[in-house]
Amino acid sequence: MNSIRLRSLPHLLLALFLTFAGTQQAAAQDAGATATVKKEGVVPGATDGATAATAVAPAAGGGDAAAIAAGDALFKTNCAQCHAVNEVIVGPALSGITKRRPVSWLLPWIKNSSKLVASGDEYAVAIYNKYNKQQMPSFALSDTEINSILAWVTAEEGKSANVAGAGVTAGNAAATDGQADAGGAEAGAGKYVDILLIVLVVVLIVLVVTLVIIGNLMKDVLRGRKDLDGRDVEILEQRFDWGKMYRSPALRGIVGVVFALVLLYEGVQSVMAIGLTQGYQPTQPIAFSHKLHAGEHQINCAYCHTSVYKSKSANIPSANICMNCHSQIKTESPEIKKIYRAIERKQPIQWVRIHNLPDLAYFNHSQHTQVAGLQCQTCHGPIQNMEVVYQYSALTMGWCINCHREMPVNAKDNKYYDNLVKLHNTKNAGAPFTVSSNGGTECSKCHY
Ligand code: HEC
Ligand code: HEC
Ligand code: HEC
Ligand code: HEC
Ligand code: HEC
Ligand code: HEC
Repeated sequence: MNSIRLRSLPHLLLALFLTFAGTQQAAAQDAGATATVKKEGVVPGATDGATAATAVAPAAGGGDAAAIAAGDALFKTNCAQCHAVNEVIVGPALSGITKRRPVSWLLPWIKNSSKLVASGDEYAVAIYNKYNKQQMPSFALSDTEINSILAWVTAEEGKSANVAGAGVTAGNAAATDGQADAGGAEAGAGKYVDILLIVLVVVLIVLVVTLVIIGNLMKDVLRGRKDLDGRDVEILEQRFDWGKMYRSPALRGIVGVVFALVLLYEGVQSVMAIGLTQGYQPTQPIAFSHKLHAGEHQINCAYCHTSVYKSKSANIPSANICMNCHSQIKTESPEIKKIYRAIERKQPIQWVRIHNLPDLAYFNHSQHTQVAGLQCQTCHGPIQNMEVVYQYSALTMGWCINCHREMPVNAKDNKYYDNLVKLHNTKNAGAPFTVSSNGGTECSKCHY
């Protein structure tokens, strides 16, 4: 126990060092991204000179990097749940968007896409239909904020283009592998730390041994001399006094400070960890792949998660559902044999649960999938690309509430809402009828 605690101290110091090194690298990368944007220019809307000019002004005003950083943050809070640069999540991949559409179209679209669709804009109607009439929420963002998001998107597509140029992987694959790459980098850093530790220990041992040898040599030389007085001899023959060292206030002080620091570090770590399970990706008992089943073979989510549109919870399929296919397909595979074994033993497969809200919160799938018409990917991310499922969203209270504040209620063809919408419109004309205007942020909706 103690040794584990103490071992984490050098790790902590090294982590500090690596963080510092990492920041430097990130800064360098940012500089690279900025260069790309400058080269490509953020001026897609050449047809609409006036808007485009105001659009680029803030960025050209000396803050390319700042605009991109702001765009990054804005994108993550507002758009990332539905969009990525290089892959379709709920909405289209945004790569090349500034070449596809002029800024004069993008500004009104992002501020209020349903207004643009209602106005009959040809492109807007087409893309709305193409994405199954999923309504993109309205955003009260300023022109500058939207432009910084677009600048960030342009910088990101520049980055993946660079990667492709270097002959590694092209756009889509790069985005899908992002997760794996991040993991790889982490593992790499871990190995690096271990090697560094071993080198440090070896250097220390060599130093200590050398010092002891030098000390003994000097003592031998001194012992050979005849002109030493009694005090010199006493010092020469002195033994190291462990007891005195143990009683030394200086040493006790140092040990105390180190111990307090370690305790503080562990404390902060455990506080930070509360409620944060985002990215959780346990190893499952059978190497079941959503990428293979839901992605390549396009098996409908509800074929396995049968109750996701009907009830509170989206169940995990029983082994019988697997057998619908695997009594015929890949019957010799060792992974498939694990399914047979579970059935023979009449024991369910012990899947490890990934998403798990605390009991104090109430969440209902059918309300969100059937009634609201949300796609699974809005909350669970690109499951169809996941070899192993991980928790994509934070699943914190803030995450639920943020969406309820922004998301308009899907009131179309739902008689239940007719009167409520009418009432809402007479009181707050123009404001969208969001989940929160229907009471979706009241504590009792989610807490018993
Ligand atoms: C809740 C999901 C959702 C969120 C959040 C969202 N979008 Fe969208 N977006 C969509 C969908 C769905 C479409 C496809 C059009 C449609 O169905 O309305 C779309 C389309 C677009 C398009 C047109 C793409 C094209 O290829 O023509 C742009 C641009 C866009 N979104 C930008 C944004 C930006 C910027 C944000 C953040 C400020 C954002 N979206 C947030 C769902 C979303
Ligand atoms: C062939 C059956 C099958 C299909 C099709 C399928 N799943 Fe799954 N899903 C499973 C199994 C089995 C598990 C449990 C093992 C695991 O986590 O990989 C699971 C786990 C999950 C989990 C994590 C559950 C937890 O423990 O918190 C989510 C989320 C999920 N699926 C979403 C989806 C979505 C979204 C789709 C459609 C794009 C889909 N699944 C399609 C079988 C399926
Ligand atoms: C609708 C049909 C269908 C269902 C249901 C289904 N699978 Fe599959 N599964 C497939 C197909 C098709 C393949 C690909 C076979 C191939 O590569 O030749 C596959 C491959 C696999 C593989 C990879 C086998 C290997 O060794 O390459 C595993 C593991 C697997 N499935 C597990 C499951 C589990 C667990 C379930 C139940 C939760 C399940 N499957 C349900 C159709 C299905
Ligand atoms: C509004 C966000 C949201 C949407 C949309 C959504 N889920 Fe979930 N999902 C959750 C949350 C939150 C949990 C955790 C629930 C819990 O712990 O009680 C969860 C849990 C799950 C689980 C684990 C079993 C369970 O019910 O706890 C599966 C499987 C799953 N979701 C599949 C799906 C599928 C398939 C879809 C699309 C048809 C979907 N989800 C749509 C938020 C969502
Ligand atoms: C991506 C957006 C989104 C997220 C994330 C989300 N919700 Fe919702 N939620 C909705 C929408 C849209 C509705 C309205 C459905 C309808 O039309 O009744 C809704 C409705 C609800 C309702 C019913 C409210 C009412 O007025 O009756 C509850 C309860 C609820 N959500 C709980 C949760 C909880 C708990 C979470 C987090 C674990 C969550 N939601 C996350 C979009 C979301
Ligand atoms: C849209 C759904 C939703 C609404 C509305 C909501 N909560 Fe929550 N709340 C959650 C979820 C989900 C969690 C669990 C989050 C987690 O584990 O991080 C939670 C957790 C909590 C916790 C426990 C925090 C902890 O650290 O364990 C408290 C206390 C709480 N909510 C109070 C409130 C109060 C007070 C209100 C009304 C002002 C409210 N909630 C409204 C969804 C909601």
